[in-house]
Amino acid sequence: MKSLNTFVLISLCLLTISSVLADLRSFSIDYKNNCFRKDGKPFQYISGSIHYSRIPREYWQDRLLKMYMTGLNAIQVYVPWNFHETVQGVYNFAGDRDLEYFLNLANQTGLLVILRPGPYICAEWEMGGLPAWLLQKPNIILRSADKEYLQAASDWLAVLLAKMRPWLYQNGGNIISVQVENEYGSYFACDYNYMRHLHTLFRLFLGEDVILFTTDGNTDKEMSCGTLEGLYATIDFGTDTNITTAFIRQRRFEPKGPLVNSEFYTGWLDHWGDKHASVDTNKVSKMLGEMLSMGASVNMYMFEGGTNFGYWNGADHDTRFRSVVTSYDYNAPLTEAGDPTDKLLAIRDVIKNFRDIPVGPMPPATPKLAYGFVTLHKVGNISSLLDTLSPQGPVRSQYPLTFEEIKQYYGFLLYRTTLPRNVPEPTPLISPLNGIHDRAYVSVNGVYQGLMERDTGLVMNITGRQGDQLDILVENMGRVNFGSYINDNKGLLGNLILGNDVLSDWSVYPLDIDTAVANGWLQSAHSGLLTEAGDGPIFYSGTLKPTGRAWDTFVKLNGWTKGQVWVNGFNLGRYWPKRGPQQTLYVPGPFLSANQLNNITVLELERAPPHCRILFMDRPQLDNTGNKT
Ligand SMILES: *[C@@H]1O[C@H](CO)[C@@H](O)[C@H](O)[C@H]1NC(C)=O
Ligand SMILES: *[C@@H]1O[C@H](CO)[C@@H](O)[C@H](O)[C@H]1NC(C)=O
Ligand SMILES: *[C@@H]1O[C@H](CO)[C@@H](O)[C@H](O)[C@H]1NC(C)=O
Ligand SMILES: *[C@@H]1O[C@H](CO)[C@@H](O)[C@H](O)[C@H]1NC(C)=O
Ligand SMILES: *[C@@H]1O[C@H](CO)[C@@H](O)[C@H](O)[C@H]1NC(C)=O
Repeated sequence: MKSLNTFVLISLCLLTISSVLADLRSFSIDYKNNCFRKDGKPFQYISGSIHYSRIPREYWQDRLLKMYMTGLNAIQVYVPWNFHETVQGVYNFAGDRDLEYFLNLANQTGLLVILRPGPYICAEWEMGGLPAWLLQKPNIILRSADKEYLQAASDWLAVLLAKMRPWLYQNGGNIISVQVENEYGSYFACDYNYMRHLHTLFRLFLGEDVILFTTDGNTDKEMSCGTLEGLYATIDFGTDTNITTAFIRQRRFEPKGPLVNSEFYTGWLDHWGDKHASVDTNKVSKMLGEMLSMGASVNMYMFEGGTNFGYWNGADHDTRFRSVVTSYDYNAPLTEAGDPTDKLLAIRDVIKNFRDIPVGPMPPATPKLAYGFVTLHKVGNISSLLDTLSPQGPVRSQYPLTFEEIKQYYGFLLYRTTLPRNVPEPTPLISPLNGIHDRAYVSVNGVYQGLMERDTGLVMNITGRQGDQLDILVENMGRVNFGSYINDNKGLLGNLILGNDVLSDWSVYPLDIDTAVANGWLQSAHSGLLTEAGDGPIFYSGTLKPTGRAWDTFVKLNGWTKGQVWVNGFNLGRYWPKRGPQQTLYVPGPFLSANQLNNITVLELERAPPHCRILFMDRPQLDNTGNKT
């Protein structure tokens, strides 16, 4: 009996201690004193945005450490749904998608986390983070209480939020708050039932203790549609905004509690064909200082931008479709390659006035290497490699099918049919309903004819004979990530008309280019092949000799037109020097081999230069707007 009593006593004691500990670990809003409280003490966060999906896993720690050494006490992180659930019901949290490893690194570094799990995130990311398979339901109303949308989003959140619960601050982790949806007030639907549903779901999976919040742009309309009772309302704005006016607006929707700017813009994104964006360092540091001295908590968007590798860039659609470039450097305090800038040092000088910053030197820039020129050789065109690229063969259909109907969501599709009659004179090939999403490269009987482009190039002339093979390679340039046009189906969205004939009887070839590249199937078979440029979509390959060092580098495709580059099977993203402003692609060192031949593959869509060379340089060039054609 005695020993049992002792046991009970000890257990009671432990219980008390652990509940005291639990009380110590708390993160909450003090509505009386207009501040956050961490473990009972007033707390102001100075945070920066970083997206693990835009940085190779090998560099996560390096970027986080540099953020910590700047004096930040938190980071803000988006979770892109389509990065983790590429196939409905199949979840991937491995490798570059290992969110918990990222959270763990942040925790070890000493950084708290403001989590933004969406389900919609914008982020200038493909479809704002929504999986394109949602578009299989025609007319689905995304980001609303639409039954199919809500079911899919709920299934995803059930997986994600259950994983995140142990990472909440009060549960021993580093997540101090969680955003619900993202800038919902800027979306036309303004569906409170949807927001209420998300609210219920977030509470169900994360519990009552965690701070849930919303973020919206600095207008009454956005704040009205985006905020909800029970979710703490924050605002976002950049250097062109009057701070006082913006925070007065936050106060109107959230009369008590801390002032929060959830996205203070340190820079801005680029679109192909537009001027390179930048934001003045003095303005950023001055305004940051002003907000911090008002006691506001601030997140800098972005602190480290990174790269839209592969096909992950988003697009905007205001008056016309504008695709986001591959680099997401963002003119942020850390560059695309994670290097500290003057902007970072200026920000650190501001932060010094508000909190002790960690002692010790700022980690230096990672070393860069100019590996020099590599000459590429022609491998073949899409048509000659079709067995390799499309092993399962085409889907046949009277009228064109979309990417979503084919269930291939990214990259390229080949549409093939024959000419219905002789067209000896140049005859217009037309997409009457603006149905080219987004670029179409056209050839007749193996001879390249030119291209069509969404919004701006819906007619071109072709010639040929009845029965000639018409090949149209269609490129998905990234789905719209913001506004009313996020139902952005890809491919040929409607019929094409040649003269007076509607083209029909299509063979649509899904193309798994990335698997072919990764398996080495597109390396040219013989090293002795003559270089030979050509017109239209053509694969080129070559090798970069090992130097004993796998350092960061930047590849420039001078004289090339537009396409996609892979290094050792890693899809670096799109290049388009002709349209600019971006001229170089970032090649992270971990993608390279120090002691093996590095395999380079290029898909040039229009025309390669006669020299067929590409150049590996030791610095990026993001700001040179080329000839606009
Ligand atoms: C976070 O880091 C702290 C301090 O290093 C450690 O005590 C804690 O166990 C870590 N939490 C998690 C969830 O790893
Ligand atoms: C911002 O707005 C406030 C209130 O309307 C005004 O007093 C102040 O001068 C403005 N600040 C700037 C920098 O324009
Ligand atoms: C593709 O290559 C094949 C074989 O070299 C050639 O016959 C054909 O004309 C080419 N097609 C295109 C579209 O360039
Ligand atoms: C197509 O050809 C016709 C007749 O040669 C010409 O008038 C027209 O400008 C051409 N259109 C385009 C888009 O090249
Ligand atoms: C390059 O390709 C060859 C042949 O497929 C392969 O053996 C080699 O491992 C590849 N190099 C690297 C660095 O992946």
